[in-house]
Amino acid sequence: MAPSTTSPSSPILSSSPIDVKHPNLILRPATIPERHHTWTINKTSWAGILSDNAYYLREAHIASQDLTRNGGITYWILVDPAAPCDPSCPQSPDHILSACEAIRKPCLIARPDGEVEEVICYGIGSVYTAEKHRGKGYAKTMLQLLGHQLKDLPDPSDPKKSHIRVGFSVLYSDIGKQFYAKIGWNPHQSSHISFPAKLPNSVSSTKARNVLKSDLRALCAADCTHIRRLVTKTPFEKGVKARCVQFPTVELMDWHHAREEFIGQYATTKAPTVKGAWVAVTSNAEFQPKEGSEGLDAAWAVWTHDFAEKKLVFLRLHIPPVHSGNQDAVQEALRQIIIAAVQEAEAWELKEIMSWNADKATEDAVESVFGKESYDLVHREMDSIASLMWYDRESGGEEVEPEGIEWVMNEKFGWC
Ligand SMILES: CC(C)(COP(=O)(O)OP(=O)(O)OC[C@H]1O[C@@H](n2cnc3c(N)ncnc32)[C@H](O)[C@@H]1OP(=O)(O)O)[C@@H](O)C(=O)NCCC(=O)NCCS
Repeated sequence: MAPSTTSPSSPILSSSPIDVKHPNLILRPATIPERHHTWTINKTSWAGILSDNAYYLREAHIASQDLTRNGGITYWILVDPAAPCDPSCPQSPDHILSACEAIRKPCLIARPDGEVEEVICYGIGSVYTAEKHRGKGYAKTMLQLLGHQLKDLPDPSDPKKSHIRVGFSVLYSDIGKQFYAKIGWNPHQSSHISFPAKLPNSVSSTKARNVLKSDLRALCAADCTHIRRLVTKTPFEKGVKARCVQFPTVELMDWHHAREEFIGQYATTKAPTVKGAWVAVTSNAEFQPKEGSEGLDAAWAVWTHDFAEKKLVFLRLHIPPVHSGNQDAVQEALRQIIIAAVQEAEAWELKEIMSWNADKATEDAVESVFGKESYDLVHREMDSIASLMWYDRESGGEEVEPEGIEWVMNEKFGWC
């Protein structure tokens, strides 16, 4: 973790430049003691199976990953500048009226005229108002200020990247579609399929190869190369104005795995070592993919173990484009990946497997293992609603999502 300090992690302060219910309040980054305050406040909602102490340690652990350390994550708090508070005092979290965090991620926007724009997006999470402060408009004020402010916050850690603008921000609502939509984060497709973590007797063991932590760097690099090409070269449907994507980088996957390893250790005294499954689609497929390749000769899943909900969740399913020459091989590879996922889930006594916004090929693969109508397709209405705030370049960064924004590869890896 970064060394402890009692000064805000960045000097940015925001009073309200926009129309908010509480124009006197300010949004600012939390000091390190204040971060701990926010964990003390929000543990009732998010500690899950962890003890209080384990929860604080987990939060500190995931804040110290490559994705999040050195300013990759910022903890934001809404405070009243007129109220007396000592930000360094661990005993007085009362001045925090509402809190949340934002993680910076590399993304891409592609447009039908062929323009490709590298952008930053922020993933917002842990939106929280302490019970005694609820119902007064504090969360709404905080999010209005934050949504507005993030768009002017490029990467301060690397001067070479200071020209990269913030293209959008995302969050995953657990309180339905209305709350965030009213403030400017529009709900997008939020579906998943789930299937049981128990193989039918007729299915024999998998030919998939285990993906280990050390394999992820090469796999994620190939996947990102593949996604970049798909997003920029796939013809745009009529009416699509721009296509946006978050990249499933190794830093992002490691962040998810830091969480699962911590909780796995706590819940079972062991941390999962198998992070996914890989299957060749062509006879000469290379594991790991060569530098610069797109990994089109194989299919693979990167997954995470959710010990609280007892689920194995695909963070990302890499499927090469299907054509008449590889259709059967891709289908068989996906089938083997499904079997491998079930075996992994069974080994950890998890109950189900989940795949976000699964495509037809994935659904077919699940059916080929379990039979017809063997999975549930859920369009979520309340939890993990993928929501997007668009920073429109044409209108000077105004936070209004125009018609025709396509958010692609909207899989679990993007969640935070
Ligand atoms: C959700 C939460 C952050 C709201 O905080 P708050 O400061 O009480 O919210 P606000 O007073 O700013 O409410 C703003 C608006 O949202 C509505 N709202 C508040 N809580 C809501 C909820 N749980 N679901 C849907 N709408 C909600 C309010 O009625 C208000 O509507 P209005 O603008 O039409 O008057 C707070 O209840 C909380 O911390 N809950 C537990 C953690 C949680 O679920 N966080 C969200 C994770 S995605």
